[in-house]
Formats: sequence, structure tokens, C-alpha cells
Amino acid sequence: MFKIDEVRTHFPGLDSGAIFFDNPGGTQVAREVMMRMQNYFLYANANHGGAFRTSQASDAVVLEAREAVATFLNAARPEEIVFGQNMTSLTLHISRSIARLLQPGDEIVVTRLDHDANIAPWLLIAEDRGCEIRWVDFRPEDCTLDMQALEAAINERTKLVAIGYASNAVGTINDVRQAVQLTRRVGALSFVDAVQYAPHKLIDVQELDCDLLACSAYKFFGPHTGILYGKYDLLERLTAYKVRPAGQHTPDKFETGTQSYESIAGVLGALEYLAGLGTGEGEKLERREALARGMQALESYEEELSLALLAGLQTVPGLKLLGITAAERVGQRVPTFSFTLEGWNSRQVAERLAAEDIYVWSGDFYALEAIARLGLENQGGIVRVGLAHYNTAQEIDKLISVLKQLQAN
Ligand SMILES: Cc1ncc(COP(=O)(O)O)c(C=O)c1O
Repeated sequence: MFKIDEVRTHFPGLDSGAIFFDNPGGTQVAREVMMRMQNYFLYANANHGGAFRTSQASDAVVLEAREAVATFLNAARPEEIVFGQNMTSLTLHISRSIARLLQPGDEIVVTRLDHDANIAPWLLIAEDRGCEIRWVDFRPEDCTLDMQALEAAINERTKLVAIGYASNAVGTINDVRQAVQLTRRVGALSFVDAVQYAPHKLIDVQELDCDLLACSAYKFFGPHTGILYGKYDLLERLTAYKVRPAGQHTPDKFETGTQSYESIAGVLGALEYLAGLGTGEGEKLERREALARGMQALESYEEELSLALLAGLQTVPGLKLLGITAAERVGQRVPTFSFTLEGWNSRQVAERLAAEDIYVWSGDFYALEAIARLGLENQGGIVRVGLAHYNTAQEIDKLISVLKQLQAN
């Protein structure tokens, strides 16, 4: 039984009474995150590597956060975790290092279902190095990736395959495990964008066997900080674009300049929150076990909410839902539901909902290729309702009733 009332007390932002369905754009922040950040400023605010107390406290919390993220992603060691400003900056940053491995005529595989943060960096390095881009399409009927096309796109010239774990536009979960296996067969690198997967399901980079994976803490109840995972040997091998005095090894060589240490402390708070969700009163669990249980609890609850939202949206006249819509396939998607509403521009729908204190995003969400492929770029894109585990069935009822009123007027 998911204790939703108790869960909501961890999120002070919810006290405003608004209904937050804007979660794929960024979630509310857990109280544990705020406490970690406040404590950082109070007791540990200093640059790193100093001989004095605050600097040592700062280094200690950064190390603890790195270890916690390594456990969250099931990385083999904390040095495989690189912090940065956000996923986009980290991806552009590492792409420059990967470019050094490429020769003219090499190929990079990208998909039309991805956010541009997992497309544009690869287009740019392909241009720099004279490489070819191979595009993988998706099926517009249910917005699932064409895995046969992916297989056909990968060949002995392939050097990198960039794939999203879950779509920010329509919620589809991709078979990343299979994509990584296909990539490995030809000795290419795999880069996984897990930004939209991380808030909903537990990641296991060792099980996926991916080379690189990125996510962003502000999408999973934390502060604005990006996270890049990379296999240790690969990160050590890559040439980092860095200043000379910076460390020669991972993660130091990739963490450009002074990091937002307070945010990194906040990431630790977010993981403490999620681990707490999986820990019963008086129980003592290993961090991975606690995180796994916490994520399992929120995943089951989100599935219930998804079914209610799916059923509700299908009763709104003129509403066209995108992506996977069958209730029995709800496990193949994250709880991000997008639609168009007949007679309405998507921005207008978002504005009408905002007037009722229901927050949703509209537009293309930087999933430019997906929106173009669906032929929706000329009607303000799509309306996106993205659930998080602090949402409730009552909030969904309210949304459905407002959408119905819009169609009635
Ligand atoms: C799937 C996906 N990838 C990448 C990004 C970019 O993340 P960031 O804002 O951390 O750069 C987003 C942001 O919405 C996203 O949804």
C-alpha cells in the first residue's frame, strides 16, 4: 500500500495546492534535498582540495554523493560517475572527446524518437569529423522504435549508437538492452539518454552493459545537476577537454572548473529520499536494496495512476492520445502522456489548464524529430501530462473534468 499522503509531506512545493503534471520538464524537490543543500551552505561551503574543515567537508559530501549515484545506477565504481551542469552540457562535453576516436566515413546511429540532447551533439561531431549519420525511425501508430531498422543501421562502420531509454515526448520505453547488444557486436560505443527513465524505474548500467549513460537530477526530485556514467576504462582512455592543472583521471578530468557542490550535495538528498521510500520503520537495508524497493513502490503506484489517466483521457471528446495506449502495455512506457485536442492549439490547452492551477507543458519539448515525424509541428506541438509518484487519482479526475469542460464550451 503506497502511503501517498506521507509521500506528499516530503515535497513542500506541493503545498501551493497546484496540480503538478509538468514533471517530465522537472519535478518538485524533496525536503531531504533542501536540507542537504542548506547544510552544505552552512557547514561545507568551500572549494575542493583545501587543508581546512569546510573544504574537507565539501569533498566528503561530494564523494558520498558520487558513491550514492554509483549505487543508484549500479556502476562498478564511483569514478564512473561524472557530475556536470545538466545532461545536455555533459553530452556536448563528452561528445568532443568521442569525436577524437572518429575517422571520416565512420557512422553514428541516432533515433527520431530522441530528445535533441541525444541527437545534436552527434550531428555536430559527425560534421566535424566527416562521419555519416544513420537515422532510425519509429512507428507513428504507437511511437515504438523500429528495432529492425536499428539492427539494419548498425554495421562494421558504426562507431556510436545513441538511444533514449524513455521518450520525453510520448513516454515509450526503448529496448536499450537489445540496442546495446547490437552495438557491442560491431565493437561500437553505446550512449543512453536515461533522463526520462530515471524518475520512474531503477537503472542498472552493468546489466545494460552500456558504455555511457546520462541523466539529470532535477527530473528525479533533486536539484539542477547533470550526471554522466561511463565505463571506467573508456573514461580513462578518452581525452578530456580540460585545463592543464585539473586532474588527469576520471572523474576529475571531465568535471570542468568548479562544480555546483551544493547541488551535488542535493543529489545525495534525492537519493536518500528515494532510499527512504523503500525502507520500513526501523529497517536497515543496503543502499541499493533500499533504492530498488523505493523505485519498485513508486513504479507500481505510477502504474495505477497511468491506468486511471489512460482511461480518463480516452473519454474526452476529440482527444487524440499518442504512443502506447493499450492498458495491457502500460509497462512499456513511463507515465508521460501526450495528446492533441481537436479545435485547440496545444499552448491554448496548457493555458486553460494553468488557469485551473493544473500545470502541463505543451510544444515539442526539444523532441524535434519526433514531433516532425508525427506531422504535429504546425499546431503548437502536443500537450504533455507527465505523472510523478506524488500525484493522485483525484488530481487526474480534476484534469479530465477540466478537459471535458473545454470540449463542452
Ligand atoms: C529525454 C531528455 N533528454 C535530455 C534532456 C536534457 O536534459 P538537461 O535539461 O539536463 O540538459 C531532457 C530534458 O528535458 C530530456 O527530457
